[in-house]
Amino acid sequence: MKNNKLSKNNIKKNIKSEFIAKNIYYFSEIDSTNSFAAKLAQKGEKEGTLVIADKQNQGKGRKNRLWHSPAGTGLWFSLILRPNIKVAKSHFLTINASLAVYKALRNLGLSIDIKWPNDILYENKKLCGILSEMSASTNKLNYAITGIGINVNQKIFADEIKNKATSIYKIKKQKISRLFLLKNILINFEEYYKKFINGEKDKLLNEWKDKISLLGKIIIVKSDGKVYEGKAIDIAKDGRLMLLNENNKIIKFWAGDASIKY
Ligand code: BTN
Repeated sequence: MKNNKLSKNNIKKNIKSEFIAKNIYYFSEIDSTNSFAAKLAQKGEKEGTLVIADKQNQGKGRKNRLWHSPAGTGLWFSLILRPNIKVAKSHFLTINASLAVYKALRNLGLSIDIKWPNDILYENKKLCGILSEMSASTNKLNYAITGIGINVNQKIFADEIKNKATSIYKIKKQKISRLFLLKNILINFEEYYKKFINGEKDKLLNEWKDKISLLGKIIIVKSDGKVYEGKAIDIAKDGRLMLLNENNKIIKFWAGDASIKY
């Protein structure tokens, strides 16, 4: 790939897909690609549309946290998805995204973990975060926005996150083409997404489960303002984490802040 610049034309030229990134909105600066994608989706924008920015001013993280998205360094993008599914299955969109990123990063030779529910970590520091946001009527999904943020070429991080975040550059000591990485992730994502749509959700779940670093460990989960402790015994068929507590009761979580105790 000669011209590696992350631009709309280069993305178009390099990504040969069926429906992912057929429509592309590229911004040199935006508040949040998730917010913009949601506005497009409300107006009926097609499935697979990619919204990508070089810089986000109000990048959204989980739990209303700010996602640091400086210019020229990372991949900050969102996909509009319209699977014909019940809301209860929407968790799989994030699972597909984390598998797609995991595979692309492993391809670069990085030894990474998926930290339940959807962070990708290198030696306990965050390389990638995923935020899926949905619109639903009763229990049927109208559309979902799956947003992915990857720290690619940052040399330094802001003080608030410097102990918790890392970048591919920091790990490999070399710059990586964002275009090349994006291409790999989108191609992987389309593959996983098609499997999901074609009913292969159990296979996806097993592939995902294999990569979850918490399983088998004693963990602490903070969820809905409460703190739980127990053994992470499995991932349920719907994607929820199963925790066995000291009273031998199984508690299931869709999401939360989890950490390994031992
Ligand atoms: C997390 O807190 O781990 C989720 C972070 C998700 C960040 C990405 S960057 C692209 C997309 N647009 C946003 O505003 N957020 C997501």
